[in-house]
This record gives sequence, structure tokens and C-alpha cells, in this order.
Amino acid sequence: MKNPFTYSNVVTGSCFCNRKKEQDDLLEFIRASQNVLLYSHRRTGKSSLIKQVFLNIKQQSPDIGALYIDLYGTTSEKEFITRIFQQLNILETNTDKLLKLLKSSIDKFSFQISMDPATNSPTITPAFKSTDENLILKNLMELLEKFSRKRKIVIALDEFQEVAKYVNATSFEKQLRSYIQQQSNICYIFSGSQQHLLTAMFQSQDRAFYQQAASYPLKQIETKHYIPWMIKLFNSGNLSIKKAIIQGIVERFENHPMYIQLFCFFLWRELQHNSWNDQTINMIERAMIDQKHLEYQTLWDNLSINQKKTLKLVLINNGQNLFAAEALVDVNIKTASIVTRCLKTLFEKEILVKNGKYVIQDLFLKKWLALNA
Ligand SMILES: Nc1ncnc2c1ncn2[C@@H]1O[C@H](COP(=O)(O)OP(=O)(O)OP(=O)(O)O)[C@@H](O)[C@H]1O
Ligand SMILES: [Mg+2]
Repeated sequence: MKNPFTYSNVVTGSCFCNRKKEQDDLLEFIRASQNVLLYSHRRTGKSSLIKQVFLNIKQQSPDIGALYIDLYGTTSEKEFITRIFQQLNILETNTDKLLKLLKSSIDKFSFQISMDPATNSPTITPAFKSTDENLILKNLMELLEKFSRKRKIVIALDEFQEVAKYVNATSFEKQLRSYIQQQSNICYIFSGSQQHLLTAMFQSQDRAFYQQAASYPLKQIETKHYIPWMIKLFNSGNLSIKKAIIQGIVERFENHPMYIQLFCFFLWRELQHNSWNDQTINMIERAMIDQKHLEYQTLWDNLSINQKKTLKLVLINNGQNLFAAEALVDVNIKTASIVTRCLKTLFEKEILVKNGKYVIQDLFLKKWLALNA
């Protein structure tokens, strides 16, 4: 039987645990055309949540047009625009009609057309050679607005922080905002995880997207929701695991969906070959940490001595009271300003995230540091 746990892909359906309230909340934002900023630390389930909501929309509210745009890997405005074009067939499924519409809506429009092997539908890629991309963006946004007069539209811009890295980010953000503000029947879901970039985009007064979307931080899934879901998946393979043990696993991985899926994947695999014993959980966890040894060792070797000390400071003090004199003495750091500087670098490197306190983002790195540093 196929392992029901999955840790490397976006999950929906039976692999998707609960998040009922979040699904309802997002649908409410969508129906009200209220733009929303969905953010969390890495691998908390933003993309999965959006995909699950879009799946529900497809099945239950097909009157809403739902476009999921993955901006990961885009490095320019042109690529941003292209990714939107590639989803337009969701709003007009008849390719001939769509092309006709594009030709009449977009000045000097030329394009290439190819088949997307994943969906087996034609994909349109604009050719930018002779045409100004600002003009294409303007026409494209006007076209979306036109579509939205007939039906409500939701556009998820996942990994939106990528935009902040484009060479002309400042002017592009301004342009984008001005179009978005005119689209009253479209809901934009801006989603991302690189905290320092997203925070700057939506919380700095001098940025175009300042306070342009309702903040929706995605939290971890509650233990009471994990328990029935995990029991059901284990039962599907005739494995019965006690509730208290499941609760222990959830707590051990701090309610983090990706680590819980990852651990359960290995637990499932282990139990296909060996029977349960008292050491099963510790043994799997240890094997998982060991597997990451080389990666973490390289990361550690590339840190400066003060950054290493600061990481230890965070680990020992659970991210709190990091400037207390005794805490600094414990890790041999001379001044608080060193801590300030190193925290900033570790935050920018995404090794640390802020969550009221400083947190080591990768739970397995935290466990590895506890064993090795
Ligand atoms: N609701 C859920 N139920 C169970 N597992 C989940 C759920 N949401 C996410 N996961 C687990 O977490 C992993 C990461 O999910 P996803 O890619 O949606 O997160 P993300 O926040 O978009 O990540 P990134 O920050 O890398 O964009 C999934 O592969 C899956 O293992
Ligand atoms: Mg994602």
C-alpha cells in the first residue's frame, strides 16, 4: 500500500489535515474581494491551503474564477506577466476565443502557444520582443478587470516576495498596486514566507503595498485536529497507533505540518518492516537528524564565530532575553551589539525567524545543534 504521508509536495484531499477555519476565512475574503496577505514561516502549509480552497471553489462555487500563480523562480516583470498569461485559460477555456480576446485587448500582441503536459491544455506565452512590457501589463490587468465584470475572480500570487527582488521592483510594485486598486471584483491573495522581504513590502510606509491587504498569519495546526487525521491515515494501512503516542509526536514536532508528515512518512515505512517498540520514535528521529548531518555541518562551517555563538545563545535561551549579561557570558559574547548584528544576519539568511521571540526556523537544525554544537 502507498504511504499516505507526503512531505515534499503541496497536499490536498485526504493528505490535508483540517484547516477548516482557515478555509472558511479565505473564502470569506474571496467573496468580499478583500485582498489578503497570507504568510507564515517556511513549510507551514500556505500553498496547500490555497490549493485546497481553490479545489473547493472548483467543486462547489465554479462561478468564481480561481487563478493560482506560482511566482517562485521568477526574476523579472516579464516572467511575472508570463505566469499570469499561462493561467488565463482558466477564465476562458476555449483557446480560439481566448486568443481572439487577447489579440483585441493587448496592443501589438504576439505570442507562442504550447501544450502544458501536466494539464494537457494549451499555454500562451507572450512574446515581448517588440512590445513594451509596461503596456502588456496594463492591457493584461485591464483584461482581468473585464473578466471580473462577469464573474468574481481570485488570484493567488504565491511566493509574492520574489517581486521585491526584481531589478525595477519599486516602480513595478507601484504600477501593480495602481491596477489592483481599480479591480473591485477581484480578490488577490498575496502569499509568501521570506519574512524580512514580505514585512518590508507590506509594512514599510514607503512601499507601494503598504497596508494594501488584510494580514492573515497562518499558524500551526492544532493537536486536536492532528489526532483524528493521523489515526485515520495510519488505520488506512491497518496500523493502529495509540492516541497518546500520536499526541507525543505532534508535540515533539511542535505542531509543524511538514515535519509531522515527514516523521509519519518514516514511521509508516518503519512499521511495514519492523514491529513497534519503545525506541521506535527516538530511533527514527535520530536517523532523520543524521541524514541532514552534512547539510547542517556545511551551514555551521559557513557561519562566523559570533554567528555560531549567537545561534547557541538562541538555542540555550529559547530565543528570549538574548541581551541579558549572564546569557552573553554563557556563550562568551563580549557585547550586546554583536548579538544585534548577528541576529540580523541570521534572520536575513532565514536561519532564524521572529515569532514574538527568535526561533530557529528548521526544527531539525535545532535538534542537530542541540546534539552537535
Ligand atoms: N493542512 C495540512 N495537513 C497536513 N500536512 C500539511 C498541511 N499543510 C501542509 N502540510 C505539509 O507541509 C508541507 C509544506 O506545505 P506547503 O508547501 O503547502 O507549505 P508552504 O507554507 O507553502 O511552504 P513554503 O514556505 O515552502 O512555500 C506539505 O508537503 C505537507 O507535508
Ligand atoms: Mg508555498
